[in-house]
Amino acid sequence: MIITFTPNPSLDRTVLLDRQLTRGAVHRAESVTVESAGKGINVARVLHAAGQEVLALLPAGPSDPILSGLTDTLPHRAVAITDRVRTNITLTESDGTTTKVNEAGPTLTADQVAACTAMILEEAAGAGWVALSGSLPPGAPVDWYAQLVAALTPLGCLVAVDTSDAPLQALVDALPASACDLIKPNSEELAQLTGADAEWLESSARAGDPRPVVAAARSLVDRGIGAVLATLGGAGAVLVTAEGAWYAQAPAITVRSTVGAGDSSVAGYILAAAAGARPARRLQSAVAHGSAAAGLPGTSLPRPGDVNLDAVTVTRID
Ligand SMILES: Nc1ncnc2c1ncn2[C@@H]1O[C@H](COP(=O)(O)OP(=O)(O)OP(=O)(O)O)[C@@H](O)[C@H]1O
Ligand SMILES: [Mg+2]
Repeated sequence: MIITFTPNPSLDRTVLLDRQLTRGAVHRAESVTVESAGKGINVARVLHAAGQEVLALLPAGPSDPILSGLTDTLPHRAVAITDRVRTNITLTESDGTTTKVNEAGPTLTADQVAACTAMILEEAAGAGWVALSGSLPPGAPVDWYAQLVAALTPLGCLVAVDTSDAPLQALVDALPASACDLIKPNSEELAQLTGADAEWLESSARAGDPRPVVAAARSLVDRGIGAVLATLGGAGAVLVTAEGAWYAQAPAITVRSTVGAGDSSVAGYILAAAAGARPARRLQSAVAHGSAAAGLPGTSLPRPGDVNLDAVTVTRID
């Protein structure tokens, strides 16, 4: 069983524009989709499509439309809250460029935070992996993920965290107590944590030298994190563990929409890890799933038939 927790889920409203986005102009929508989403829900959807037993956990009121969007499509359990979950808007252009406008989300009370924590710990007993994904809603303590990792680790499950900004910094500040098994920073998040320059990290890798990314990721592994999967958009990804470092170039694809690419990378990694794969294979699966997501339109997430492992070459760095 793989558990995901999405503390700040959303109804994702994706609008495909008829032409390039121009500030101040009137645009027409070629299509509009509304989906129950949020990073942990996306991770669970990819894993579920790949045949894994999953359970997506979230805060949401019983009549919230986000739950009707999950009925019959994804096993889930919610802690009841009064306010509606947020709506996030994505503007997609035909060349794959996406512009997002995310709401902050409803404020959780201390009791609701405690109820979520209790639900996660209850469901995690006996789970193989727990993935904690996305931003934290107002009202949640900034070190919630750090606290959850410390509480989950003794239960024997493996824990992945994919977040950014203050919650990610709080996780790293609480090391080694918050040492999870996987974090998945993108180049900006890795730069935030290590003081490196995001553009330099990504452009070095693109130019064939992933060593700056490896050095930044290794500084986190040295502090106790099990594996750092640093995703680099179209430049692929680097994986650093205590065993070594690997780089995988992204396959040449036609990018349609990068929505869900990072979440698909997390799912690809966990899928391979749950099957007992070694680090190089985990990285290959992560990049193949991330790039499959980037090649699919709108919010579509990859199904096994969309994923081409053989298109991803993995190189050992050291
Ligand atoms: N332009 C692209 N071409 C090919 N693959 C891509 C592209 N952009 C993203 N990917 C794939 O998706 C993975 C994750 O992308 P990225 O590093 O942009 O994640 P992210 O910034 O965390 O995304 P998210 O917005 O979903 O959180 C990459 O490692 C790669 O496999
Ligand atoms: Mg991300």
